[in-house]
Amino acid sequence: MLQISGKGRLGSKATEQPFKAKHVHLLAHRSFSVGGPSAVASAMSIERRRRSQKLKSDSKQMVYLTRVEHFNAAHKLYNANWSKEQNDAVFGKCANENWHGHNYELFVTIKGKPDPDTGFLFDAKQLSKLMNQYVIEKLDHKNLNVDVPFMQGQLCSSENLAIAIWQQLQPQLPPQVQLHCIKLYETPRIFVEYFGE
Ligand code: NI
Repeated sequence: MLQISGKGRLGSKATEQPFKAKHVHLLAHRSFSVGGPSAVASAMSIERRRRSQKLKSDSKQMVYLTRVEHFNAAHKLYNANWSKEQNDAVFGKCANENWHGHNYELFVTIKGKPDPDTGFLFDAKQLSKLMNQYVIEKLDHKNLNVDVPFMQGQLCSSENLAIAIWQQLQPQLPPQVQLHCIKLYETPRIFVEYFGE
Protein backbone atom coordinates (compact mmCIF):
# COMPACT_ATOMS: atom_id res chain seq x y z
CA MET A 1 0.00 0.00 0.00
CA LEU A 2 1.36 3.37 -0.97
CA GLN A 3 0.27 6.43 0.96
CA ILE A 4 0.40 10.01 -0.19
CA SER A 5 0.00 13.11 1.90
CA GLY A 6 -0.38 16.78 1.04
CA LYS A 7 -2.79 18.92 -0.90
CA GLY A 8 -1.92 20.09 -4.41
CA ARG A 9 0.96 18.85 -6.50
CA LEU A 10 2.24 22.34 -7.14
CA GLY A 11 2.21 25.81 -5.70
CA SER A 12 2.96 24.81 -2.13
CA LYS A 13 5.08 27.39 -0.34
CA ALA A 14 7.52 25.76 2.03
CA THR A 15 6.55 26.84 5.51
CA GLU A 16 6.55 23.60 7.45
CA GLN A 17 9.59 21.74 8.72
CA PRO A 18 8.77 18.01 8.62
CA PHE A 19 12.38 16.90 8.96
CA LYS A 20 12.80 16.94 12.70
CA ALA A 21 15.02 14.28 14.18
CA LYS A 22 13.66 12.12 16.98
CA HIS A 23 15.75 11.11 19.93
CA VAL A 24 15.68 7.86 21.82
CA HIS A 25 16.20 8.10 25.55
CA LEU A 26 17.72 5.26 27.48
CA LEU A 27 16.98 4.78 31.17
CA ALA A 28 19.96 3.78 33.32
CA HIS A 29 19.54 1.00 35.85
CA ARG A 30 19.57 2.19 39.46
CA SER A 31 22.33 0.65 41.53
CA PHE A 32 21.64 -0.72 45.05
CA SER A 33 23.58 -2.10 47.99
CA VAL A 34 22.79 -5.27 49.99
CA GLY A 35 21.78 -4.56 53.62
CA GLY A 36 19.66 -7.43 55.06
CA PRO A 37 17.06 -10.10 54.12
CA SER A 38 14.59 -7.65 52.61
CA ALA A 39 17.39 -6.06 50.57
CA VAL A 40 18.42 -9.53 49.33
CA ALA A 41 14.84 -10.33 48.31
CA SER A 42 14.65 -6.99 46.59
CA ALA A 43 17.93 -7.63 44.79
CA MET A 44 16.67 -11.03 43.60
CA SER A 45 13.49 -9.47 42.34
CA ILE A 46 15.44 -6.80 40.45
CA GLU A 47 17.71 -9.48 38.98
CA ARG A 48 14.68 -11.50 37.84
CA ARG A 49 13.24 -8.39 36.23
CA ARG A 50 16.55 -7.66 34.48
CA ARG A 51 16.73 -11.21 33.17
CA SER A 52 13.20 -11.02 31.85
CA GLN A 53 13.94 -7.65 30.24
CA LYS A 54 17.07 -9.08 28.58
CA LEU A 55 15.08 -12.04 27.27
CA LYS A 56 12.50 -9.64 25.90
CA SER A 57 15.16 -7.58 24.17
CA ASP A 58 16.81 -10.69 22.74
CA SER A 59 13.65 -12.15 21.29
CA LYS A 60 11.09 -9.51 20.43
CA GLN A 61 12.07 -5.88 20.49
CA MET A 62 12.10 -4.35 17.02
CA VAL A 63 13.68 -0.96 16.43
CA TYR A 64 13.46 1.33 13.42
CA LEU A 65 16.33 3.42 12.06
CA THR A 66 15.86 6.21 9.52
CA ARG A 67 18.49 7.87 7.37
CA VAL A 68 17.73 11.00 5.34
CA GLU A 69 19.40 11.98 2.08
CA HIS A 70 18.67 14.69 -0.45
CA PHE A 71 18.66 15.01 -4.22
CA ASN A 72 17.52 17.41 -6.92
CA ALA A 73 15.99 16.16 -10.13
CA ALA A 74 13.93 17.24 -13.13
CA HIS A 75 10.94 15.47 -14.59
CA LYS A 76 7.61 15.88 -16.29
CA LEU A 77 4.40 13.95 -15.85
CA TYR A 78 3.20 12.96 -19.26
CA ASN A 79 1.28 9.99 -20.62
CA ALA A 80 2.42 9.41 -24.21
CA ASN A 81 -0.87 7.65 -25.04
CA TRP A 82 -2.86 10.81 -24.37
CA SER A 83 -3.32 14.06 -26.30
CA LYS A 84 -1.59 17.22 -25.10
CA GLU A 85 -4.98 18.51 -23.94
CA GLN A 86 -5.63 15.43 -21.82
CA ASN A 87 -2.12 15.56 -20.30
CA ASP A 88 -2.56 19.23 -19.48
CA ALA A 89 -5.97 18.54 -17.94
CA VAL A 90 -4.70 15.72 -15.70
CA PHE A 91 -1.16 16.83 -14.84
CA GLY A 92 -1.42 20.63 -15.15
CA LYS A 93 1.92 22.40 -14.79
CA CYS A 94 3.62 19.05 -14.13
CA ALA A 95 3.10 18.20 -17.82
CA ASN A 96 5.22 21.21 -18.89
CA GLU A 97 6.99 20.05 -22.03
CA ASN A 98 10.40 21.43 -21.05
CA TRP A 99 10.49 19.84 -17.61
CA HIS A 100 10.49 21.23 -14.08
CA GLY A 101 12.49 20.34 -10.97
CA HIS A 102 12.07 19.32 -7.34
CA ASN A 103 14.21 19.26 -4.21
CA TYR A 104 13.52 15.74 -2.99
CA GLU A 105 14.10 14.52 0.56
CA LEU A 106 14.46 10.77 0.87
CA PHE A 107 13.79 9.03 4.21
CA VAL A 108 14.78 5.37 4.29
CA THR A 109 13.63 3.42 7.37
CA ILE A 110 14.98 -0.02 8.20
CA LYS A 111 13.92 -2.31 11.05
CA GLY A 112 15.43 -5.14 13.07
CA LYS A 113 16.96 -5.94 16.44
CA PRO A 114 20.01 -4.20 17.91
CA ASP A 115 23.26 -6.14 17.65
CA PRO A 116 24.24 -7.20 21.23
CA ASP A 117 27.89 -6.23 20.58
CA THR A 118 27.25 -2.72 19.22
CA GLY A 119 23.71 -1.81 20.27
CA PHE A 120 23.20 -0.80 16.63
CA LEU A 121 20.54 -2.11 14.29
CA PHE A 122 22.84 -1.17 11.40
CA ASP A 123 25.66 1.29 10.83
CA ALA A 124 23.91 4.53 9.81
CA LYS A 125 26.96 5.59 7.77
CA GLN A 126 26.78 2.32 5.86
CA LEU A 127 23.07 2.91 5.19
CA SER A 128 23.94 6.37 3.87
CA LYS A 129 26.64 4.84 1.65
CA LEU A 130 24.18 2.33 0.18
CA MET A 131 21.57 5.05 -0.40
CA ASN A 132 24.16 7.21 -2.17
CA GLN A 133 25.61 4.43 -4.28
CA TYR A 134 22.36 2.81 -5.42
CA VAL A 135 19.94 5.75 -5.44
CA ILE A 136 21.25 9.29 -4.95
CA GLU A 137 24.11 9.13 -7.45
CA LYS A 138 21.69 7.79 -10.07
CA LEU A 139 19.06 10.50 -9.47
CA ASP A 140 20.81 13.66 -8.29
CA HIS A 141 20.88 16.45 -10.90
CA LYS A 142 19.34 14.07 -13.44
CA ASN A 143 16.25 14.16 -15.61
CA LEU A 144 14.15 11.29 -14.23
CA ASN A 145 12.39 10.75 -17.57
CA VAL A 146 15.53 10.31 -19.67
CA ASP A 147 18.66 9.83 -17.50
CA VAL A 148 17.67 7.12 -15.03
CA PRO A 149 17.69 3.49 -16.26
CA PHE A 150 15.48 2.20 -13.45
CA MET A 151 12.74 4.76 -14.27
CA GLN A 152 12.66 3.98 -18.00
CA GLY A 153 9.17 3.32 -19.35
CA GLN A 154 7.48 4.59 -16.19
CA LEU A 155 5.58 7.73 -15.34
CA CYS A 156 8.04 9.65 -13.16
CA SER A 157 5.67 10.36 -10.27
CA SER A 158 6.90 10.34 -6.69
CA GLU A 159 4.78 7.22 -6.13
CA ASN A 160 6.58 5.26 -8.85
CA LEU A 161 9.91 6.72 -7.79
CA ALA A 162 9.43 5.53 -4.18
CA ILE A 163 8.64 2.00 -5.39
CA ALA A 164 11.70 2.02 -7.68
CA ILE A 165 13.93 3.24 -4.84
CA TRP A 166 12.69 0.34 -2.68
CA GLN A 167 13.60 -2.09 -5.47
CA GLN A 168 17.07 -0.55 -5.76
CA LEU A 169 17.84 -0.69 -2.03
CA GLN A 170 16.16 -3.84 -0.78
CA PRO A 171 18.66 -6.31 -2.34
CA GLN A 172 21.61 -4.36 -0.87
CA LEU A 173 20.68 -4.84 2.80
CA PRO A 174 22.09 -7.70 4.90
CA PRO A 175 19.66 -10.47 5.99
CA GLN A 176 19.32 -9.23 9.58
CA VAL A 177 18.05 -5.84 8.37
CA GLN A 178 14.60 -5.38 6.84
CA LEU A 179 13.57 -2.44 4.71
CA HIS A 180 10.50 -0.88 6.36
CA CYS A 181 9.60 2.33 4.51
CA ILE A 182 10.65 4.59 1.68
CA LYS A 183 9.34 8.09 2.40
CA LEU A 184 9.90 10.60 -0.36
CA TYR A 185 9.17 14.30 -0.04
CA GLU A 186 8.51 15.93 -3.40
CA THR A 187 7.89 19.28 -1.73
CA PRO A 188 7.97 20.14 1.98
CA ARG A 189 4.21 19.54 2.08
CA ILE A 190 3.78 16.54 -0.22
CA PHE A 191 5.26 13.14 0.40
CA VAL A 192 4.64 9.51 -0.48
CA GLU A 193 5.36 6.42 1.61
CA TYR A 194 5.94 2.90 0.32
CA PHE A 195 6.08 -0.14 2.62
CA GLY A 196 6.89 -2.82 0.04
CA GLU A 197 3.35 -4.15 -0.33
NI1 NI B 1 6.81 17.58 -10.49
